[in-house]
Amino acid sequence: MFVDIKMPGLDGLEVLSRLRTLNETLPVVVVSAHATTSTALEAGKLGAFRFIEKPLSKDYVIDAIREGLELGNLRRENRQLRTALEAKYQIIGETASLKHVMEQVRRAAPTSATVLILGESGVGKELVARAIHRNSLREKERFIQVNCAAIPEELIESELFGHERGAFTGATEKQTGKFELADKGTIFLDEIGDMSPKTQAKVLRVLQEGEVERLGSARTIKVDVRVIGATNKDLEEEIAAGRFREDLYFRLSVIPITVAPLRERLEDIPLLVQHFVALFGKENNRRPARFTPGAIDALKQARWRGNIRELRNLVERLLIMSDRDVIEGDDVRSVVRTDARPAAASAETASVAAPSARPATLREFKEVSERAFLAEKLREFGWNISKTAEVIDTPRSNLYKKLEQYNIKQETDG
Ligand SMILES: Nc1ncnc2c1ncn2[C@@H]1O[C@H](COP(=O)(O)OP(=O)(O)OP(=O)(O)O)[C@@H](O)[C@H]1O
Ligand SMILES: [Mg+2]
Repeated sequence: MFVDIKMPGLDGLEVLSRLRTLNETLPVVVVSAHATTSTALEAGKLGAFRFIEKPLSKDYVIDAIREGLELGNLRRENRQLRTALEAKYQIIGETASLKHVMEQVRRAAPTSATVLILGESGVGKELVARAIHRNSLREKERFIQVNCAAIPEELIESELFGHERGAFTGATEKQTGKFELADKGTIFLDEIGDMSPKTQAKVLRVLQEGEVERLGSARTIKVDVRVIGATNKDLEEEIAAGRFREDLYFRLSVIPITVAPLRERLEDIPLLVQHFVALFGKENNRRPARFTPGAIDALKQARWRGNIRELRNLVERLLIMSDRDVIEGDDVRSVVRTDARPAAASAETASVAAPSARPATLREFKEVSERAFLAEKLREFGWNISKTAEVIDTPRSNLYKKLEQYNIKQETDG
């Protein structure tokens, strides 16, 4: 858009400021015969990307058009990416318990207080952590996530605090730690209940002093980091068992936020399903399928040990496996283990939804077999991840990835 400054009724600057709420991606060039530095500055502040003086030169105008078109494309692309990202991390649900969580997020976000997010696996702890960061004053800074369970014990300290070159055998390059990377931003210590006592002591120190030391260096580095921790373990139990430091627990849980398991908020299932269907539809360029009321009812019967992650995976799977655009109760019942039919999948893995029929493709066959194998081995070694990983000769991090991928969870009851 080309806008003049002096116009009857509404002047150019006024147009600019109204336009901003109407169409934020439209590039605007201001044109004026009465150019003063202050109007030019003002126009810039209001979002115009160019200021051209009258009389107009053809070259200037063409140049502005070219730049404007490019800028418009960039802005639109940017907005699309942002909306996609927002949809990905959107927290869906209207049950009272989730609303309470959102209220806590709203209150905690603008502060720098440490937050501890508690809840079973797959309930949305990471989403909550991201929501806190997004709504904080640190929003523009980094959000650094560290999965404390997936990093081998020997590496976690150097991951978190960094190391100097030659700090230990194999430290051929210096490495900046995650705390330093997160300076001015937020660090999300996921699975914090799995941190070793030694690392816990060091993290406690960062929380107390606001400074880190790289391995192999005596220099302390000030960091301004907001810490968010999350765990699916019962930390009080871990403390009682001597596995988690009580002082660290107190430091972390300045604001504790507990996210309820899906079985306690089944009313959110329709909304969640709708959300995931739309999300996958967009991702895969497919017409969104519809879940019948019968299908939703069937979903409400399931146990959801893997919580929302399990629901999400299941919805994705139903969409991929079905070539119709309606998903019905029977479709759901064929892949989900419900309380009504507890025996349906018991021969299979832990709380994984059993495949409906025999695998149809090589890939499905491989996945089903891999999943069954992993579950069997885990059971054999008492769900000791390190031990199992060692025996089946795969890195621990890979085993964790597989557990997540196949949504394999330890059976704790029934
Ligand atoms: N309220 C929600 N609305 C939409 N999606 C959700 C919601 N809660 C969780 N999800 C989705 O479910 C999946 C699991 O969520 P998330 O990774 O945050 O769980 P978690 O509690 O961190 O699990 P874990 O303890 O296993 O790490 C993600 O794909 C997330 O996007
Ligand atoms: Mg998580």
